[in-house]
Amino acid sequence: MNTQTDVQKQKEYIEKIKKLNQGKNLKYNIFTMGCQLNENDSEKLSGMLEQMGYSKIEDIKQADLALFNTCCVRENAEDKLFGKLGELKKVKEEKGSIIAIGGCMMQEKHITDKIKESYSFVDVIFGTHTLYRFPEDLYKALIENKKQEDIIDIEGKIYEDIPIKRDSKIKASVTIMNGCNNFCTYCIVPYVRGRERSRNPKDIIKEVKELAESGYKEITLLGQNVNSYLRVEREKNIEFEKYKGIDSFAKLLKEITKIEGIERIRFVSPHPKDFTDDVIEAISSSPKICKLIHLPLQSGSSKVLKEMNRKYTKEQYLELVEKMKKQIPNLTLSTDIIVGFPGETEEDFEDTLDVVRKVNFEQVYMFIYSRRVGTPADKMENQIPEEIKHKRFDRLKELVESGIEKNNQKYINTIQKILVEGESKTSKEMLTGRTDSNKVVIFEGDKNLIGKIIEVKIISEHMWYLKGEVSKT
Ligand code: SAH
Ligand code: SF4
Ligand code: F3S
Repeated sequence: MNTQTDVQKQKEYIEKIKKLNQGKNLKYNIFTMGCQLNENDSEKLSGMLEQMGYSKIEDIKQADLALFNTCCVRENAEDKLFGKLGELKKVKEEKGSIIAIGGCMMQEKHITDKIKESYSFVDVIFGTHTLYRFPEDLYKALIENKKQEDIIDIEGKIYEDIPIKRDSKIKASVTIMNGCNNFCTYCIVPYVRGRERSRNPKDIIKEVKELAESGYKEITLLGQNVNSYLRVEREKNIEFEKYKGIDSFAKLLKEITKIEGIERIRFVSPHPKDFTDDVIEAISSSPKICKLIHLPLQSGSSKVLKEMNRKYTKEQYLELVEKMKKQIPNLTLSTDIIVGFPGETEEDFEDTLDVVRKVNFEQVYMFIYSRRVGTPADKMENQIPEEIKHKRFDRLKELVESGIEKNNQKYINTIQKILVEGESKTSKEMLTGRTDSNKVVIFEGDKNLIGKIIEVKIISEHMWYLKGEVSKT
């Protein structure tokens, strides 16, 4: 069966559940952990559920169906899931809700074993490769009143036309590729998401055009390694549907900039080793492509980077940053950093701090190294004691925060273009939006500005957000 027929078959299950649910006014709650790819998957699960007649609620205790979309990139995600499951046991007993768990963590056998053993009230378990099959699994759980476990370990396929219910009406995520072939030694993602595979350019362009027609202003292109888009297909001569000559990430970006209505384009995550000149050129030549680029560093030590299998050195990273700064006016950078990778010495850690000082990042996502079962780094003998990891993390955090505070000063009294996203969460009187560099800006303004790009003068900075006043609409 091809993937189109597979998805078609699932639409029949959606219809069957819709009939079962008729007149029942059923509610679902979805809890998403992890990265933007997982959030985009959750939008697809929501799309399926809404077509089945479920409507979304925030209070999990009131849900007829509680769905978890899990992440396993670090250990704290596991603690979170098992904590939630403990809570849910009561809800299950009182209300008889259906409990379903999907996502990356379900691709790990030691986790599904634990669920089956200690949390046997869970009704449906599905993995990353079987997300599209959720309607069938749910239908069987409902009709047969039997636990469903639907997990497969394959390289992975691309499924198009899965229903989707997006969280925002202004900005949208578009997954352009799935899986990862990089096997950084600390990372579980390649094992739970399968091999790198890209969507056809035609399907991506169609999706972005539809978003533009529905009024979306900003899109974020998603993938574990977006700048290797279609690389496997090119290298291994795997056939893909040719469309407007697009055979690389740079060409995809250029084609998307031509779509009228889309005013901002972002992408995460690129890999420094694949940041080719054509991508830099595409970014600098279009005002629509945001000049905040996320460029994951992971470590500033060439020795640690080698152990991590990142395929670049400290010097190569810094050279790339210099080249980008020269060629992309108004460039800002964000990054991911792991502290306490096995064998990281004080000197290695100093190298990380050195890169942070030199680059002057707009935002740094900092993580304490977490051992992941099945990855090469988990088997390395020179693991760093927790106490040292935490101390280094605190030192890095201090440096990053003082950098952000200093950096925020450059915004004061400048006019920034803001995409207005909605009312501020903390005060209904205020609106919130983001700069090109993805900084949150809060300001007073009329609700009809929501969804528009307007000019705002920045008047003060508050570490994680800026305050402004509307200068021109
Ligand atoms: N594909 C992306 C990011 C994937 S995971 C990339 O290559 O940049 C997001 C971030 O989680 C990573 O960038 C890394 O900083 C962090 N991470 C991944 N595995 C980790 C681990 N075992 N411990 C701590 N942080 C980890
Ligand atoms: Fe993980 Fe590395 Fe792949 Fe990113 S590139 S998902 S960090 S293996
Ligand atoms: Fe987590 Fe899976 Fe994303 S492991 S970071 S949700 S790809």
